[in-house]
Amino acid sequence: MEAQLEYGNWIRKRNLLILGFCALGMGALLFIPLGFLYHLIVAILFVILLLSFLFPLYAYMTFSQKGGGLQEKFYTLIIQSLGHEVKGRILDIGSGNGVLAVKLAQHHQEVEVVGMDFWGEDWEYSKTVCEKNAKIGKVENRVYFQKGDAAKLDFATESFDGATSNLTFHEVKSVADKKSVLQEALRVIKSGGTFAFIDYFFDAKYYGDRSEVETFLIGLNLAHFEYKPLRELITIPTLLNHPKILGKVGIIYGKK
Ligand SMILES: C[S@@+](CC[C@H](N)C(=O)[O-])C[C@H]1O[C@@H](n2cnc3c(N)ncnc32)[C@H](O)[C@@H]1O
Repeated sequence: MEAQLEYGNWIRKRNLLILGFCALGMGALLFIPLGFLYHLIVAILFVILLLSFLFPLYAYMTFSQKGGGLQEKFYTLIIQSLGHEVKGRILDIGSGNGVLAVKLAQHHQEVEVVGMDFWGEDWEYSKTVCEKNAKIGKVENRVYFQKGDAAKLDFATESFDGATSNLTFHEVKSVADKKSVLQEALRVIKSGGTFAFIDYFFDAKYYGDRSEVETFLIGLNLAHFEYKPLRELITIPTLLNHPKILGKVGIIYGKK
């Protein structure tokens, strides 16, 4: 069987396992014969823990390639939004396991892709898996990975022909206003270069309200940009479209 790309998942397996074992442990406590009140309290806690496990499990399955493939849909949308005339060197910011970088290179046979990430301990992604994925995808001669910080990219101004990023900017802890992470991403793109970024662009907690983001984007004097909620472009299952999950995710794409 041909090796498959290792996607990883936006839901951390470690967290799922902890929740699963806690629910299981609470379920086991139900078998101790300690009276009605004890059983009532334990039963309520068990239901709460079970739901706290089942919902992320559902999200995990929906994101996963073996389930709903929602992660893949995000990558496809980014690649499509980047347009047909992609050339030169593209930067993918917050590469995770590098799947978007690999797919970009597979889609555009002429491009070189640099994937960068912090690869901190919070996440179950690594540079090693990125490099393995590039080999599996047979693009290891055009896809490179390097560690860095999206808040301050280690690349010269206007050194890339395009840039992509998926669900990373809001994760940059050192910067409160994530608009500056977006601006940093745009800095490294050449004039006329293309970009497509997905993030919580409609969450005021990270970016300010919608009009603030629009004013900011207009102020950047980009040749062209689109700023849209993701649910207008891809089908997000109702439960995951909640504002606390993917409801405030949007895409910003265009030309510098
Ligand atoms: C939700 S994951 C998305 C990963 C990948 N883009 C994907 O779609 O699978 C967020 C990523 O942001 C990365 N990240 C967090 N803070 C970062 C920073 N300051 N600079 C670069 N990457 C960062 C994490 O390591 C993680 O890989």
